[in-house]
Amino acid sequence: MVRHLLKVSDFSKEECEKVINKSIEIKKNPKKYNSALEGETLLMLFEKPSLRTRISFETGMQQLGGHAIFYSIKDSPLGKKENISDTAKVASRFVNIIAARVFKRQDIWDLAKYADVPVINMLDDFAHPCQVLGDFQTINEKKGRLDNFKLSYFGDANNNVTYDLMRMCAMFGLRMDVACPKNPDYSPEQLVIDEVLELSKSSGAEVKVVHDAFEAARDTDIIYTDSWMSYGIPQEQEEERKKAFMPYQVTSSIMKAARPDAAFMNCLPAMREYEQTAEVIDGPQSIVFDQAENRLHIQKAIMLFLQEKF
Ligand code: CP
Ligand code: NVA
Repeated sequence: MVRHLLKVSDFSKEECEKVINKSIEIKKNPKKYNSALEGETLLMLFEKPSLRTRISFETGMQQLGGHAIFYSIKDSPLGKKENISDTAKVASRFVNIIAARVFKRQDIWDLAKYADVPVINMLDDFAHPCQVLGDFQTINEKKGRLDNFKLSYFGDANNNVTYDLMRMCAMFGLRMDVACPKNPDYSPEQLVIDEVLELSKSSGAEVKVVHDAFEAARDTDIIYTDSWMSYGIPQEQEEERKKAFMPYQVTSSIMKAARPDAAFMNCLPAMREYEQTAEVIDGPQSIVFDQAENRLHIQKAIMLFLQEKF
């Protein structure tokens, strides 16, 4: 059966651990894998901008002995002269893996439904699984464990990265506070909360939404934030969003309220003086570039896993 990665909980906890461990091994010994996907092709469909995802997938595929194609959806007949099912079926005849970054979750669900090869979500409005698997590798490297810690998220919680962080914390039995404004536009969707509650039942996780940033910071090991202006949010909303999210900006006082060895994370791209101050992201507790680097290693492990190479 063809497996896909559309959200992080498409993998079980054990599978996430397996992929993270493989990524750590690949990072230590990349040469060992330089022909692991020899002759294979990855198609990368992009509907939104990207720095990290595009470069790390393309580089990763090349380092595994394969080839990656960057394809901008605006250059394709998709949506105008062709539907998603035809695109998925045709691409499956040419390539071995399809990855896509789209605006609407239904589009990637349809790609996966009609594709005969694995589909990887490179970010939609519901999930960013490659990011969060890489982030957990980074946490494992920095903290030496993937259990018994608290992760606190600050800012826009109606957000792809937040959703996969919530799912991952729920699967791993962790404590997570999501600190966001009391406004449904900036809060997690009920669909995600329901999934997280279900996952938490067996793991004992405690994932909750709070509105006091200092309460979220208390006793936390990981402080995480993401853009207030995610890709595709209209520019005219910027001032209104800045006002709503400012009480959740990650500042030095927030860092001081956390555990002394707390790490600061942001999936990037980041805007200084928006979701965090410059002194936080450029300060000693920031691990944002380790996070970015791990995208390369984890995506190699994800592709190998989906191609049943380990
Ligand atoms: N974090 C992340 O996915 O970055 P890009 O948007 O640059 O790919
Ligand atoms: N939430 C952000 C993540 C960027 C990697 C966005 O969707 O733009």
